[in-house]
Amino acid sequence: MEEKEFLDKYLTDRRNTSCLKWDYLNTRYGEKDLWPMWVADMEFKSPDGVIEALKRRVDHGVFGYSFCWDSYYEAYSNWMEENFNYPIKSDWVRTSVGVVPALYWFIHCFTEEEDGVLIMPPVYYPFHQCITDTNRKKVLVDLIHQDNQYAIDYAKVEEKIQEEKVKLLIFCSPHNPASRVWKEEELDRLFAICQRHGVLIVSDEIHQDFTFNGHQHTPAPRVHDGKYKDQIILVNAASKTFNLAGLVHSNIVIENEELRLQFDDYQKSHVPMEVNILGHLATEEAYRHGKDWLKALKGVIWSNYLYLKESIERELPEVKVADLQGTYLPMIDLSHLIDTEGDEKVIVNNMPVPKKLKHFVQDKCRLAVDYGAWFGDAYQGYIRFNLATDPQIVKKVVDTLISQAKELKA
Ligand SMILES: Cc1ncc(COP(=O)(O)O)c(C=O)c1O
Repeated sequence: MEEKEFLDKYLTDRRNTSCLKWDYLNTRYGEKDLWPMWVADMEFKSPDGVIEALKRRVDHGVFGYSFCWDSYYEAYSNWMEENFNYPIKSDWVRTSVGVVPALYWFIHCFTEEEDGVLIMPPVYYPFHQCITDTNRKKVLVDLIHQDNQYAIDYAKVEEKIQEEKVKLLIFCSPHNPASRVWKEEELDRLFAICQRHGVLIVSDEIHQDFTFNGHQHTPAPRVHDGKYKDQIILVNAASKTFNLAGLVHSNIVIENEELRLQFDDYQKSHVPMEVNILGHLATEEAYRHGKDWLKALKGVIWSNYLYLKESIERELPEVKVADLQGTYLPMIDLSHLIDTEGDEKVIVNNMPVPKKLKHFVQDKCRLAVDYGAWFGDAYQGYIRFNLATDPQIVKKVVDTLISQAKELKA
């Protein structure tokens, strides 16, 4: 499918549909009239096969108790095998009402209060929140960020694991918001450190399907022919890939039987759940029928990225756009345009943001974005930009950013 056909068919106005991204701006950003380049979902309808299957189920008209059926596991495993060479046995799979809730469960299940939980900023801010909300010790090892590239600081990881009695690593792969797709050698080196020190790894791979420019995602349990699989919990979902987040459904894969039983005990006594049939059904159908849709979507995202990157490079050389290997959420470094050093903070979306940056981004450019400061302290002058949207919006927003920046410099 060509990009134009995809856009003609799937691009949709989401306003006035209780849509968080558009209709909740006033609550989160204090005003309505902003371009929503924030939360990671999209303006595109899901693949036809998903909508048709949901319609059939809705027409049946009964939404009683259900269970996770065989063809669900089969579709999930086929997708993982075809795309990542990782077939998954149904016994290993558990489901959850979203990736973020599952992160809270893992922390409760596998760690004690005051245990160290390691994350690598800049990282998806619920990673920070799930550790502090559960009274665990947040152990931070920033990614090394040099020449617009991000890398893992292995020496620091090992040092902090020993110093802070780290029990759990919550890892993001591909990484949001560094937009890195980790190479297998990088994962191998990181996981070997965790193995040496008995650290359990939770690998959040919700962005697995968004890789670009030849970068290949490796599921954590597959690294080095499965060398670390017994200490890995993988969590992923079709929700980000196929715009199904409102159906609150995700997958958990635990190969190690002992960990799986521990998790089952935890779930049974703390978060007993029934199956959400619509979430399961949409996920199965997306994995079965979503391939061409996803290919076209990625084409749109990549064109949007090129527009952003090339326009900014040409017009504002002091502003840096991250290299987009994975996700659809690159960071933009505005720190050489706006000096945030020692700047007063204002609260946006319940989190602090440098006042001058907020003034430029929200008041002048009229954008609602995720601010770098939310992902890591060292990213005060950054914003994260959601590219999974209408190219016309991307064009308008990028052009506005450039013209406002030029006015600021004048
Ligand atoms: C790394 C990462 N994990 C999890 C989520 C959200 O997952 P869920 O909606 O299933 O809780 C996001 C959404 O942006 C994300 O970027």
